[in-house]
Amino acid sequence: MSVLEIRDLVVRFGTGPRAVTAVDHLDLSVGAGSIVGLVGESGSGKSTLARAVVGLVPLAAGEILLDGEPIRTAAGRPRRELRERGRLIQMVFQDPYASLNPRMSIGESVAEGIAAGRRADRSARQPDVRELLERVRLNPDDAHVLPRQLSGGQRQRVALARALAARPEILIADEISSALDVSVQGAVLNLLREIHRETGIGVLFISHNLAVVRYLSDRMAVMSGGRIVETGPTEQVTEHPRAPYTKALISAVPGIAAGAGGISRRPAGAAGA
Ligand SMILES: Nc1ncnc2c1ncn2[C@@H]1O[C@H](COP(=O)(O)OP(=O)(O)O)[C@@H](O)[C@H]1O
Ligand SMILES: [Mg+2]
Repeated sequence: MSVLEIRDLVVRFGTGPRAVTAVDHLDLSVGAGSIVGLVGESGSGKSTLARAVVGLVPLAAGEILLDGEPIRTAAGRPRRELRERGRLIQMVFQDPYASLNPRMSIGESVAEGIAAGRRADRSARQPDVRELLERVRLNPDDAHVLPRQLSGGQRQRVALARALAARPEILIADEISSALDVSVQGAVLNLLREIHRETGIGVLFISHNLAVVRYLSDRMAVMSGGRIVETGPTEQVTEHPRAPYTKALISAVPGIAAGAGGISRRPAGAAGA
């Protein structure tokens, strides 16, 4: 499994006096097989960072490396083979409609993801659509249905299956549970955790919700104004925050402050809480 490194990344929108620097000289790594949580308030630049990593917005400065090799840089396009390696990083968005064509059956959408992965690695055996639907706990006999026939939670599972179809080594999950009913949010988060355990895939888990980041991640990074203001093991950052911004974020979440109950870091019993 691969290591993702984001080095000195700058992303700007617009030019001149009205330019917005959404990501401002940011460094962040996702180690092989870990879940890194990225938390920060709305507008702090989390989605822009994610979109730059997968190549949806250009870099003004800095570089994105996979296993030490640059796959995206600010200065020109990397060699074709390296860009192809970029497919090893897949992203799932808040709104599954962004990644699912409403006219295509869910099986067709997942199959498209397989085709994308095949270009990156022709020799590897590809998982098939049925196997991918099973992996996200959907009924493989439902491959013919359209996205609108599914619930929001089921659509998000399809988006996850489509991303996994490309056989990624890094998955970026940007607010994947934020638009879902509270009743199904937990199921989608637990599914992500199970997939992480089964495959060892590295995950950059992005959310404005500190409680869910704390629940899922091994390490976390706190983002504010386009910068990382604090990073470290999740327990350490939530129990002993150093940055004033992190302290404010934690005190704003009832029940998450050190010593209080609320959502446990691990399933009941593990933390002795
Ligand atoms: N396409 C865009 N054009 C102009 N400004 C943008 C664009 N996308 C994001 N921004 C700006 O960049 C900043 C960070 O936004 P975003 O990355 O969406 O934050 P977050 O995901 O943390 O809520 C905001 O000020 C936002 O208005
Ligand atoms: Mg966002």
